[in-house]
Amino acid sequence: MTTVAEGLLLELLDPANRADPYPTYRRIRERGPLQLPEAHVAVFSTFAECDAVLRHPSSCSDRMKSTLAQRHMAEHDAEPRGATSFLFLDAPDHTRLRGLVSKAFVPKVINALEPDIRTLVDGLLDQASDGPFDAIAGLAYPLPVAVICRLLGVPIEDEPKFRDASALLAQALDPFMAMTGETSELFDQQMAAGRWLADYLRDLIAQRRRRPGDDLMSALIQVEESGVQLTEDEIVATCDLLLIAGHETTVNLIANAILAMLRHPQQWTALGGEPGRVSRVIEETMRYDPPVQLVSRIAGADMTIGDVEVPNGDTMLLLVAAAHRDPGVFDRADEFDPDRGAIRHLGFGKGPHFCLGAPLARLEASVALSAITARFPQAHLAADPVYKPNLTLRGMSTLFVAP
Ligand code: HEM
Repeated sequence: MTTVAEGLLLELLDPANRADPYPTYRRIRERGPLQLPEAHVAVFSTFAECDAVLRHPSSCSDRMKSTLAQRHMAEHDAEPRGATSFLFLDAPDHTRLRGLVSKAFVPKVINALEPDIRTLVDGLLDQASDGPFDAIAGLAYPLPVAVICRLLGVPIEDEPKFRDASALLAQALDPFMAMTGETSELFDQQMAAGRWLADYLRDLIAQRRRRPGDDLMSALIQVEESGVQLTEDEIVATCDLLLIAGHETTVNLIANAILAMLRHPQQWTALGGEPGRVSRVIEETMRYDPPVQLVSRIAGADMTIGDVEVPNGDTMLLLVAAAHRDPGVFDRADEFDPDRGAIRHLGFGKGPHFCLGAPLARLEASVALSAITARFPQAHLAADPVYKPNLTLRGMSTLFVAP
């Protein structure tokens, strides 16, 4: 028999609820933390709980520390994996790698991309037809991958291959995809995409070692602190991470903001006439309909979160999208209102793993959103948007806009 907790999680997993998961999130939040002791999982959904877990010194990101992973390794006599991206590492490795990468990921590098981003956005909007066009295929999807390719110094002709690999790998990041009918064929495709990308990046590293450019990849090769450099495996894992963490997330931010404004046409008009509003629109979208709906942590020790005891090794799922609608923290939490006072959110995470790409995502979204609203002042929604099955990186596959 399914417990209430399991029933609510099944409701959340149901792709039929992907277009509007917020009523389910509300039910989960109102019920309080869900605990599934046999699965070693606890689910948190209020702002205070999610915030507390992210700030807790015993919260870990290394999934290998979970009871389930430990058990799996023992049962299958498995070796711990090789180089992994620092998103899934804890101190001291996380601190060392993040420190080295942030040295290369400085505002100077990001801000230098702005003219390129403007040219890309204008070029994409020039191609939008006179009739309804898909704002995902026409703008939100191609922009971030082109920007990451520019950042890493990937030649333009290789972008389509990057795009395909990125879509497959973003699904692999979703801890729920396995539970929502992921096929072994898809798994094989993801593995092949991962191998292709790693080989491609190794070739590019070899080229940049011979002839450094002014791109991030060259900076990652040269970056050094007290004689410590990144190994080749670490550079590959980092570039992988930048592509996976920086692509679909930014697509979803741009698309979710377009959708929210089209459903609140006065917001569309207001931004079109006053580009200075764009950061408020972006931060409110990050709260109201966040691109990353949940993050997870492993309890690195027995922990107490609110009234809940979480045993060492349990996985904690933080439904940040539910936390962002917490009426205890936000007035009119279910309303999209960029003009509300200070906008708090956990959409870029919090604590030691706070999103390294947040300034880049904000820059891309501000250029894209101010341009599309100014260019098509009369735009309206041409059809209901269609959602992909992904739960963690929840986002649309099509969003038709009539100009
Ligand atoms: C709107 C777009 C984006 C959103 C919503 C987003 C969200 C997040 C979140 C929630 C985390 C923390 C995950 C956790 O704590 O487990 C994170 C980490 C990260 N993000 Fe982003 N991200 C976005 C764009 C980007 C971009 C454009 C890049 C780079 C090209 C990027 C690079 C990273 C990296 C490297 C980390 C790992 C940081 C660490 O582990 O220390 N992100 N992001």
